[in-house]
Amino acid sequence: MSPHRIVRMAGLAAEAVLVVAISLAHTVAAEPAADHAAVFNNNCSVCHQLAGAGLPGQFPRLAGRADRIAATVAGRSYLERVVLFGMAGKITVDGSSIVGVMPSFAALSNSDLAAALDYIVSLDRSGDVHWKGKVFSPTDIARARAGRQLSPAQVHALRAVTLAKRDG
Ligand code: HEC
Repeated sequence: MSPHRIVRMAGLAAEAVLVVAISLAHTVAAEPAADHAAVFNNNCSVCHQLAGAGLPGQFPRLAGRADRIAATVAGRSYLERVVLFGMAGKITVDGSSIVGVMPSFAALSNSDLAAALDYIVSLDRSGDVHWKGKVFSPTDIARARAGRQLSPAQVHALRAVTLAKRDG
């Protein structure tokens, strides 16, 4: 083999190592993949507004609230059911009543729903993202999907027992 060819092969090998290193760096990135925000922006922000800011009296703020709801097992289970089954009924958020209807998002995949929930629980009150890693997995969503089917009014009743005494 000519020295020239050896040098070229070494160059290619180094390039391959670099490519592998870059893709590994991607896999272990601590930041949320862009698609978490994208799932939210494409499906939820039309009502809940960008970064989950909400609209008082119409759509509940999620920023700085979803993380608190998700702090308990019951709260996480409630959030899974809101997105799967929707919710209808009066709630009070930030001192304003909302008599709203949230549609079911059961048509989205388990991983998209997990991504949307992971996104909202990473938002602080001002909408900045503090990525918490995977709080919801596609398996969690699959389990809720396969479990008892709730009407939007039943999800509202579940909210009342789950968030008892909390102004949302
Ligand atoms: C068409 C408007 C609309 C869209 C789109 C929508 N929501 Fe909602 N969402 C609402 C309304 C209205 C409520 C309050 C329902 C009620 O009053 O019972 C709500 C409630 C919620 C709640 C419960 C808040 C609480 O205080 O308990 C969560 C969590 C939520 N939405 C997340 C999402 C996510 C995630 C998406 C996207 C996958 C989404 N929503 C899409 C309108 C919407």
